[in-house]
Amino acid sequence: MIIILMGYMASGKSTIGKKLAEKINYNVVDLDDVIEEKEKATVTEIFKNKGEIYFRKKETEYLKEILNTSDKIILSLGGGTPCFGNNMDLILSQEKAKSVYLKASLPKLVTKLMKKKAKRPLIAHIETEEELTEFIGKHLFERSAYYNRAEVVISTDNKSKKEIVTE
Ligand code: S3P
Repeated sequence: MIIILMGYMASGKSTIGKKLAEKINYNVVDLDDVIEEKEKATVTEIFKNKGEIYFRKKETEYLKEILNTSDKIILSLGGGTPCFGNNMDLILSQEKAKSVYLKASLPKLVTKLMKKKAKRPLIAHIETEEELTEFIGKHLFERSAYYNRAEVVISTDNKSKKEIVTE
């Protein structure tokens, strides 16, 4: 089984992924970490030096590779992974995979991302909370159509990490 965690930036994919992996004795694979390792560059450097299209191509390439070669893992995707190319169809076509959307509200995401935007090239340039709210509001609306296709949707607002992992 591969448990695939998806959701917007800062929705808790990596944190919940690690905790869930410990609990069920699976390994955790973080797609951004795989990209950084294979490309020998940070996500920020890849966006800056090679552009977003290159990043998206690599993201799909490594996603396919992981799905084809792994089992008993929790796979934490990047926030954009389900929303490009045929990635969501690919994810849903995996018999041995279960997809989970960690759904967080706009205010929760904005609060978290105000503190954590520096490492995220899509929003690093945004300065004020108002601008960030406007950007994420639109972006999340567009992306929700993809995320909501996940087999399981877990609302994470006001739940502890433990409760989310259990769910
Ligand atoms: C992205 C999310 C990031 C990373 C890249 C692009 C996105 O991952 O893949 O910066 O398009 O939402 P996280 O969701 O782990 O921040």
